[in-house]
Amino acid sequence: MKILAIETSCDDSGIAILGKDENNQLKIMANLVSSQTKIHAPWGGVVPTLAKREHQRNLTPLLIQALKKSNLLLPQLFDSAPQNARLRSENKIREILSREPDLLKKLLPFLKKYQKPAIDVLVVTVGPGLEPALWVGVNFARALAYFWNLPVIPINHLEGHMAAGFFQLEKTGGTYNLQATSYKLLLPAVCLVVSGGHTSLFLMKKFGRFEIIGETRDDAAGEAFDKAAKMLNLGYPGGPAIAKIAAKFKPTSYNLQATIYKLPRPMINSGDFDFSFSGLKTALLYQLQKMASKEIKEKTPALCAEFQQAAADVLVSKTIKAAQKFNAKTVLISGGVAANELLRQTLAEKLKKEAPKISFLSPAPKFCTDNAAMIGLAAFQKSRRKSAFKSWRALRAQANLRL
Ligand code: KG4
Ligand code: ZN
Repeated sequence: MKILAIETSCDDSGIAILGKDENNQLKIMANLVSSQTKIHAPWGGVVPTLAKREHQRNLTPLLIQALKKSNLLLPQLFDSAPQNARLRSENKIREILSREPDLLKKLLPFLKKYQKPAIDVLVVTVGPGLEPALWVGVNFARALAYFWNLPVIPINHLEGHMAAGFFQLEKTGGTYNLQATSYKLLLPAVCLVVSGGHTSLFLMKKFGRFEIIGETRDDAAGEAFDKAAKMLNLGYPGGPAIAKIAAKFKPTSYNLQATIYKLPRPMINSGDFDFSFSGLKTALLYQLQKMASKEIKEKTPALCAEFQQAAADVLVSKTIKAAQKFNAKTVLISGGVAANELLRQTLAEKLKKEAPKISFLSPAPKFCTDNAAMIGLAAFQKSRRKSAFKSWRALRAQANLRL
């Protein structure tokens, strides 16, 4: 089975092709992401209308590239379909993409120029996310599914983030080999999905069944990183920018400043598994208001280090407490913020010390941030059930989709 996965829930356009090779091993044949960070950077956050425009421009070129990389791109030599049938399907595509004219402009010539590729199923993120952005991917999948007569598996974005963590990805000669880990050995698992839009703790007792045990009451952790970076003039996205500057902080020479800049660990002892990151961001703002701009500039590494540590401390503490309470065999973290080295390290070390029996899973940083391969991985798991396959007619973007 070969699948084509599409991800457009936020500001990354992603196309991936996954398949099983001759040894029955899952393989990521292509995983392409076109990041829009430069376009959104001047606004310090994602602008939905710009994201919609960029997804429309990106998807067809990414699809061509992914098919080429997977040796699945074949030119149309001779179209045997009668003229009126061709016109009918072209009109249907126009109807499906009536709200995505830029996408239509690129997709129609592609469909005429190339043959239907050897793909068996389409997979697309239907939510949660930014509604206009989600619709571009969903309508792209609908148009392709209609034209190529393929079924579609709709995927929840958060399920995608978690699926990336449940697989061990090993790079071999340009492609990633996947070893599907046996779920049974890993469950129950406590999964932290921490990104620009989400900070949620899930308990997975049975394969594919998620119970939410905690979530942020205000900002997502990634959102707090992004806002903090904006206050410090570090650009967007804030998470990697803060991590990079924090690495310059040398605790030995700056020790004193580190204690002066003590930031709160919101809700760390709240007794539940909810989070709050808006207070952390505000505490940083108050701290900056007390400082002269020269001092801020000089001490930015110390401020970044403290901010990063505060966020990591809360995430790690709550995740471990949840894992202990629910007798988890596995702790899994994924999502953009899970790419943070300090967070990964702190969690791994604390688990080893406080709960050595619990195993720790996290995808490589490249698979933590948004990508289409993770959406394809989630679909591979679901594809065992016939009910996972839908007709393109049934597909809708659902901005507030819950697991
Ligand atoms: O999962 P993702 O790519 O998109 C969403 O679904 O939101 O996550 C993006 C978020 C951004 O807020 C970004 O600042 C944050 O993840 N992020 C990081 C790091 N890399 C990305 N935060 C902290 N440290 C990082 N290294
Ligand atoms: Zn995400």
